[in-house]
Amino acid sequence: MFKINSLYTRRDILSLGAGLAAATLPGLSAAQKTQPLLTRLIPKSKEPLPVIGLGTAIIFDIGNDTDKRAERTQVIHTLLDGGARLVDTAPSYGTAEGVVGDLLAAAKVRDKVFLATKVRSNDNDAFIAQMKASQQKLHSPKIDLMQMHNVGFLERRMFASQLAILREWKQQGHFRYIGVTHSQDQERANDRLIEMMQQDKLDFIQVNYSMAERSVEQRLLAAAADTGTALLCNLPFGRGQLFRAVRGKAVPDWAAEFDATSWGQFFLKYLLTNPAVNAVIPGTDKVEYMIDNLNAGRGRLPDAAMRKRMVAFIEGL
Ligand SMILES: NC(=O)c1ccc[n+]([C@@H]2O[C@H](COP(=O)([O-])OP(=O)(O)OC[C@H]3O[C@@H](n4cnc5c(N)ncnc54)[C@H](OP(=O)(O)O)[C@@H]3O)[C@@H](O)[C@H]2O)c1
Repeated sequence: MFKINSLYTRRDILSLGAGLAAATLPGLSAAQKTQPLLTRLIPKSKEPLPVIGLGTAIIFDIGNDTDKRAERTQVIHTLLDGGARLVDTAPSYGTAEGVVGDLLAAAKVRDKVFLATKVRSNDNDAFIAQMKASQQKLHSPKIDLMQMHNVGFLERRMFASQLAILREWKQQGHFRYIGVTHSQDQERANDRLIEMMQQDKLDFIQVNYSMAERSVEQRLLAAAADTGTALLCNLPFGRGQLFRAVRGKAVPDWAAEFDATSWGQFFLKYLLTNPAVNAVIPGTDKVEYMIDNLNAGRGRLPDAAMRKRMVAFIEGL
């Protein structure tokens, strides 16, 4: 029987990776597959979106490395095999965006993926050129979600003119959804992001939310729910900081009450408890971590009392 903690060796993964489009993958055990992956509706369209996604910053910036491309392909297959769809990338992640595009095309799974990327430039012509380049690198004339990248402190007039470009491109059918992201100095950006959701009727917002960065709990999550803005959590592990904080510590017994058997599930289930959260996008290049993250979207979630206990536990470390 497959175990979450069993580590695939690189050789295992590569031997499996020979046929990149193969449907049968290490993935989830039959028992794990019988527990459905939690799905939430995108408020503006009512389209279902599974709550676990995949981030690609740094770990997909691998250029033409064939072995690494085969490993990342297995992570994508595991995501899809587990019932999830969302992959988030950006032109600013080095070669990652092109790698994502190539791998999806080679594995013939582009149509199974909800593909999100980003755009950022201080010049409108360069902004448009970047979106065209993304369509090419992703081999996708139609991108599911285009997000203005790190907009919290963007000058207002530039924000308005670039959002207008995004709207026009959406209307022309290049994007299915548009939105904004932010991650640096999150607390200071929150008021402006709330204002954007209220005034600009965005489809999506992506913010820095983890047990290590909870400032969006004060008002932003409620504003996303009020305005019908789908919310994605970036840096859901605080870029791995949370794992470093619990290194050598066992997951507490009481986490079994909400079906968390690993720290990864503990951290992600905390975020998913809030119904304003549509999906989390943890980054990983490892099949076993991808499976672990998918399992955070199965089974019970903590209730309000349990969430307080979880926060107290983490703050007490
Ligand atoms: N402004 C923005 O729009 C913005 C900013 C930052 C990030 N993002 C998005 O958010 C995504 C996630 O951010 P991130 O990848 O930097 O940070 P993260 O998801 O918070 O943390 C990633 C780290 O967690 C580890 N990890 C993942 N799953 C694990 C598991 N189940 N058990 C143990 N360790 C696990 C990874 O290890 P391994 O590396 O060993 O797999 C990696 O070191 C990015 O890829 C990007 O798509 C957006």
